[in-house]
Amino acid sequence: MDRTVTWGILGTGDIARQMAEDLRLVPRSELRAVASRTPHRAEAFGETHDIPVRYGDYEALAHDPAIDVVYVATPHIRHCEDTLLCLESGKGVLCEKPLAMNRRQVDRMVAAAEETGCFLMEAFWTAFFPAIQSVGTQLAEGAIGVPREVRATFAYPAKPDPTSRIFDPALGGGALLDIGVYTVALADLVFGREARAITSEWRPASSGVDLAGSVTLDFGEGQRALLDFSLDAPPAQGATITGTEGVIELPERFSQPDFYTLTQAGVTETHRFARKGYGYHLEAAAVTESMLAGQTQCPTVPWSMSQRVVQTLDRVREQWGLRYAAE
Ligand SMILES: NC(=O)c1ccc[n+]([C@@H]2O[C@H](COP(=O)([O-])OP(=O)(O)OC[C@H]3O[C@@H](n4cnc5c(N)ncnc54)[C@H](OP(=O)(O)O)[C@@H]3O)[C@@H](O)[C@H]2O)c1
Repeated sequence: MDRTVTWGILGTGDIARQMAEDLRLVPRSELRAVASRTPHRAEAFGETHDIPVRYGDYEALAHDPAIDVVYVATPHIRHCEDTLLCLESGKGVLCEKPLAMNRRQVDRMVAAAEETGCFLMEAFWTAFFPAIQSVGTQLAEGAIGVPREVRATFAYPAKPDPTSRIFDPALGGGALLDIGVYTVALADLVFGREARAITSEWRPASSGVDLAGSVTLDFGEGQRALLDFSLDAPPAQGATITGTEGVIELPERFSQPDFYTLTQAGVTETHRFARKGYGYHLEAAAVTESMLAGQTQCPTVPWSMSQRVVQTLDRVREQWGLRYAAE
């Protein structure tokens, strides 16, 4: 019989709920356990999503010998400690974005994965969408010549709730780490290296986190990325990649796109892709396959990519003087 990979979910919030639904779509995977800080939340989540094993603390999940991989779905400030707990207990980890609060923490997580020989990946789900994979192929095949510029915008009007994770500095809130990270990661998918120079601006929320930001990444050699993100603007999410011989546009939801357009020599063609579930099953399937193949990282979102992205986030926050107490 084919071996399966057994999954546990750590945290019972919004994204954990969506992943629990999508994990049902992943071949050779079984969602076996969930852990919450409070037993009744684990019970309720397990009941809703038909998960047989329910733990009222995170350690118990990390030490369950029947679990192969844990999906860490806690607020950013916990990603490092929750991931280390699981890696050091011999579990693979798929950890939500941003992989951690800063480069130092990401390096610790990568070192732990190396030392334990366990799988680790940042849940940058965007990279696994067929539309993004196809854009990657177009870029590699020179469909737009040499890429010169990435423009990406990610904005939505977040409910100004000071108790929400999004606005709470104690939980690592703010636009850059929550949605700006997608724009930085998209630029990394295109250029694959760290920016030589960064210029940026930001607007703080009353809680002290960043409400909105604009970042220009200068990669040298005439290549740059112009990135905007905001928690208090009308919904807008799109990206354009301009090259010497063409343009690729992801006009809607570039973080989870169903289509893109390619314009070459004045002719535009649209490439569409079918969607199943929310789209989180795509990254989860890659994790399952990597683990079945005995790999400790996935080539689509390797550790080096997460390290470059978080380094950029660090450099931007350094310019803003934005530090979190939890760091
Ligand atoms: N990939 C995506 O599309 C996507 C979308 C949204 C969010 N995310 C990422 O996923 C992570 C979680 O986001 P979310 O929107 O699911 O958050 P959320 O709804 O607030 O849920 C977070 C969960 O983490 C647990 N937790 C542990 N310590 C906590 C603390 N001190 N305060 C609050 N909750 C705590 C809680 O579960 P228990 O009480 O059961 O322990 C809570 O339900 C974030 O890092 C975010 O960036 C990714």
